[in-house]
Amino acid sequence: MARIPEETLQQVLATTDIVDLVGRYVKLRRVGANWRGLCPFHPEKTPSFYVNPQRNNYHCFGCGASGTAIRFLMEHDGLGFMDAVKRLADAAGIRIEEEVWDANAERAAKIRHGLVKLHNDIADWFHHLLMKDAVAEPARDYLKSRGISSETARNWKMGYAPASGALLRQWADEKRYTENLLVVGGIIARGDAENGRSGESYPRFRHRLMFPICNDYGEVIAFSGRLLDNNAKAAKYLNSPETPIFNKSRVLFGLEKSKRAIIKANRVIVCEGQLDMITAFEAGFENIVASQGTAFTEFHARMLKRHAEEAILCFDSDNAGYKAAERAFVILSPTGLLVKVAPLPQGEDPDSLIRNHGTEAFKAKLDDARDFFDHMIDFASANRNLGETREKTRFAGEMASMIQLLDNAIARDAAIQKVAIRLGLPEADYRRQVSRTAKPSMIESSEMREESSMPLPAQDKLAEMLCQYALSDAFILDWLRKSGREEVIKDIPGTELLSLIWGSSMNLAESTDLNVFLTTLRKEEDSALSQMLSRPMPAGGLPEAEQALDALDLKRVHNLLQHTQTQLKQHGLTGAKIAQLQAQVVELRKEYLDRRALLQKIPPLPAP
Ligand code: CTP
Ligand code: MN
Repeated sequence: MARIPEETLQQVLATTDIVDLVGRYVKLRRVGANWRGLCPFHPEKTPSFYVNPQRNNYHCFGCGASGTAIRFLMEHDGLGFMDAVKRLADAAGIRIEEEVWDANAERAAKIRHGLVKLHNDIADWFHHLLMKDAVAEPARDYLKSRGISSETARNWKMGYAPASGALLRQWADEKRYTENLLVVGGIIARGDAENGRSGESYPRFRHRLMFPICNDYGEVIAFSGRLLDNNAKAAKYLNSPETPIFNKSRVLFGLEKSKRAIIKANRVIVCEGQLDMITAFEAGFENIVASQGTAFTEFHARMLKRHAEEAILCFDSDNAGYKAAERAFVILSPTGLLVKVAPLPQGEDPDSLIRNHGTEAFKAKLDDARDFFDHMIDFASANRNLGETREKTRFAGEMASMIQLLDNAIARDAAIQKVAIRLGLPEADYRRQVSRTAKPSMIESSEMREESSMPLPAQDKLAEMLCQYALSDAFILDWLRKSGREEVIKDIPGTELLSLIWGSSMNLAESTDLNVFLTTLRKEEDSALSQMLSRPMPAGGLPEAEQALDALDLKRVHNLLQHTQTQLKQHGLTGAKIAQLQAQVVELRKEYLDRRALLQKIPPLPAP
């Protein structure tokens, strides 16, 4: 996989009529040079959403949503960056030629490519065994026992991983897959002293029912394998390890199938198990994802928020389900998702509920889904003694920290009112308690930075130039990271975006990485970056990028010089301090002039 060249991006934006594009989703009326309508990104009664055909962008004065046509499709249709560009390119009849650069990136891309091919091939093989081969008889019996039709098995390309290492090896030999690739992909595990299989290699998945896990494009990138024998002494579900193509905190099982339905319903049903998702999906509840047990991350939450505004959690109604709902709320709510809970009857999950009591029973539970806080209060009322003051106080405190997670003031207000009324507390007192309560500690995630509504300061022109170079050329990005010169931009205002790009671990050869990077940005950063990407690229390559960094370095010296001069103007300095500062000024001025002489040709230089 590779990246779209900058020229093509500009061409795509230039050939897209943004009024026409947005006009297909939003009713627009002309006002002067602009077009105006009701913002599709937040509820409003009077239009504050503007499309500007000259600047080729949109902006909402109500909620701050803004960006180019690419951004619009990403936000509105939940597309990734590449997919949005591709859709526009298709409409404009532009052919996208992707680029591949340096040897390292190429090698990494090759491995990833090999792994994707391996996973898809082996998924086909597992599937073929399950459907046709004698060796998979027990697996077919298992499907029957769980009421899974062969059509469902086909739709989800379920498979059977045989117990025998010899069968796997024979298959790999025929397909010419090296053992090394199988190890990197986590299909084969190498034993170590600890598990008593020192040095040996053996199939990770043995005698299991296999569920392929797919990426956005429906390519198989990992597996989850279920035991066929419930009594066996092994984990019921076994997943692929992290590999160059699989990061489980970034993938939600089945989302590639359910995305459209989620967007259409503007609501996502969240369940825990693969089979819950499959059974519900096949029964017509297509707007669903499975969290695969407990591994629900902020990243997942962002992915869901891009597609829907509301999440319905389908968890057990027991204490474990209550805890699971609480955990999910902590992750989902800060993204702005409205969280509801549909508690299922004790001991049932969506799969068993639908099988034992029918689709209607599941639908009724979904229709009965209640706001998270109502659910929590009901559960607590039934299971804790809220009549006791101490217990009630403790519960009110727990809810207060949950309320702190709500991303907007209106939702917070509503929740405060609700909890106060239900617990019989004076609303004003409870409001005060909430405002003094800290947010519950979030699960640490280095990928996610805290959301805040701080506006982004205007970006330094040189820093912007460097961003453009770095994002258009993997080689330059790599050079920047290896230069060890982060210090240069540390104290220069307007280098926030450059610093984010510099500090990211994205690999430009992997188109999804840029997407992923974009989704980790705050809205302000994202729209600033999108705007920057849509501007013409500065001419040149690495030499020009180096000069830009040198010019930033010059700016740093300049700032330091000014700062020292300001210090000198302070009152009450000792003679020694003055002498020291003066010496610094002399030195800095010399350094500044020397550097500047070397850089004469680069605009825009700060005045001496
Ligand atoms: N899970 C896991 N590893 C385990 C157990 C569970 O990864 N050892 C994940 C699986 O994704 C599983 C989900 O947690 O689907 C929920 O677990 P559980 O409720 O125990 O299983 P079910 O989904 O009901 O699976 P099944 O119906 O096949 O028993
Ligand atoms: Mn189950």
